[in-house]
Amino acid sequence: MKRAKITIIGAGNVGATCAHWCAAAELGDIVLLDIPATEDMPKGKALDLMQASPIMGFDSNIVGTTSYEDSRDSDVIVVTAGIPRKPGMSRDDLLATNAKIVSSVGEQIKATSPNAVVIVVSNPLDAMVQQMLKVTGFAPNKVVGQAGVLDTARYRAFLAMELGVSVEDISAMLMGGHGDTMVPIPSCTSVGGIPVTQLLSQQRLDEIVDRTRTGGAEIVSLLKTGSAYYAPAAACTQMVEAIVKDKKRLIPCAAYCDTQYGVGGFYVGVPCILGNDGVEKIIELELTSEEKTNFQKSVDAVKSLVATMDGLLSA
Ligand code: NAI
Ligand code: 2OP
Repeated sequence: MKRAKITIIGAGNVGATCAHWCAAAELGDIVLLDIPATEDMPKGKALDLMQASPIMGFDSNIVGTTSYEDSRDSDVIVVTAGIPRKPGMSRDDLLATNAKIVSSVGEQIKATSPNAVVIVVSNPLDAMVQQMLKVTGFAPNKVVGQAGVLDTARYRAFLAMELGVSVEDISAMLMGGHGDTMVPIPSCTSVGGIPVTQLLSQQRLDEIVDRTRTGGAEIVSLLKTGSAYYAPAAACTQMVEAIVKDKKRLIPCAAYCDTQYGVGGFYVGVPCILGNDGVEKIIELELTSEEKTNFQKSVDAVKSLVATMDGLLSA
């Protein structure tokens, strides 16, 4: 059986770390692509990773490049191209710059890898993934955004720290946009099968949810020169694995919701089944009235972000 071809666009912190995790997990051959202005940087990172392979014991061909020809006919493409946040910036401050970058990346993907599943990571995520769908014209199930796996991982890590239990025993679901309006679903959060509400007070749970909402900003304020990348790259790797191994993982992704949840044609974080064909199914949960209200607020924030982006791009 042929190895999957995985292209990662943007060989910066998230992209290079994603290449590292994907190679270590032997998910396929990897193309690490960046802009010509970076000159040989992607080649250097790819070669360095190849030289790690005999020590770590993985077989993966890793190519660094600035040419889309090398990425031709990829099976999966992870898009991390763009600028990250600096202290004091929100994800939305990245809108104008990254919308143009994602548009040009999308044109190139359409021309060279028309059958790929595209995972968008660049921020502000929910708008960037919508733009990728528009530019490529791919089927909506083939274009998906990464945010929910990262946000739930942060939530699970904080819950494990609070309860003093293994992260493996915590299962959780968050919905909505990647930002301050994300919506926790307590009925889908459990610890070794026990509902979290039996183990933590509502007040403590609310504090942990708040920390999760601002989890990205907490890292930005500590790093000072950029944003998080280990956990984001691990989240992308889990999505790549679900696709190349056709694992049918049930995980939160930014997926195109048309009639689902009454969203009406926008990307928003929802529980999905992710497999070889991308988003193979969106799971429609029964939400409480409070969850419905919060989810709608999140959807409204995404819609207004997309409207601002469209205005900026047409100006
Ligand atoms: P970084 O600055 O380390 O890397 C970005 C790379 O993109 C740079 O190497 C740059 O040269 C490259 N790039 C810029 N324009 C390009 C183009 N047209 N084609 C190809 N490559 C291009 O930034 P980092 O930390 O890797 O973050 C990347 C993006 O991912 C940011 O927008 C960040 O906000 C976002 N992000 C999203 C997360 C999520 O959960 N959705 C989590 C973490 C980061
Ligand atoms: C994060 O949540 C910056 O979106 C990125 O860390």
